Amino acid sequence: MSGDPFDVLMAAADPAAVVVTTALEGVRAGCLVGFHSQSSMSPQQYCVWLSKANHTYRVGLRADHFAVHVLTADDLALAERFGTRTGEEGDKFEGLAVDLDEQGVPLIGQCPHRFVMHRLSVLDDGGDHVCVTGRVRSASTAGAFAPLRLSDIVHLKPGRPSDGHAVRP
Ligand SMILES: Cc1cc2nc3c(=O)[nH]c(=O)nc-3n(C[C@H](O)[C@H](O)[C@H](O)COP(=O)(O)O)c2cc1C
Repeated sequence: MSGDPFDVLMAAADPAAVVVTTALEGVRAGCLVGFHSQSSMSPQQYCVWLSKANHTYRVGLRADHFAVHVLTADDLALAERFGTRTGEEGDKFEGLAVDLDEQGVPLIGQCPHRFVMHRLSVLDDGGDHVCVTGRVRSASTAGAFAPLRLSDIVHLKPGRPSDGHAVRP
């Protein structure tokens, strides 16, 4: 077997790809996320890890609601849009059908499989990502679907590489 054993183990887990969105003071933000997990059943709680290099991190530090959109196998273009461009340089939502929920969180119209969470905490444990934990407030789905998996998008080049250059909060 070749490659770093930890990388091999993580690749085997092959999580679904999600797009996390949020907004603050009229500024919309969102990025492709591979680091995410349910963290409690009752109450329902969830964690997403945001890179300190990302525009979404900068906006999310002071935002209190986040939407997690679970991508389907047909959403490669959306993964490219949110994973290879940065909101530091332009509005990634432009041209998409986007609704704001009652908390002002951007909901991507073409992603019916999603939930909104209310932020509980942000943990910076010294890594290049921070952990945002949240209580699930609402969820919706259009039924069974095949998720877009990380193995489908490993070729994408992140719009903001997490190489230690954090954006100013
Ligand atoms: C396959 C893949 C997985 C990614 N996973 C994460 C992740 O878990 N958390 C994160 O913050 N960024 C992740 N990114 C990087 C961001 O999606 C990317 O840098 C994006 O362009 C940042 O946009 P923003 O600056 O508008 O927030 C991933 C990118 C790719 C291609």
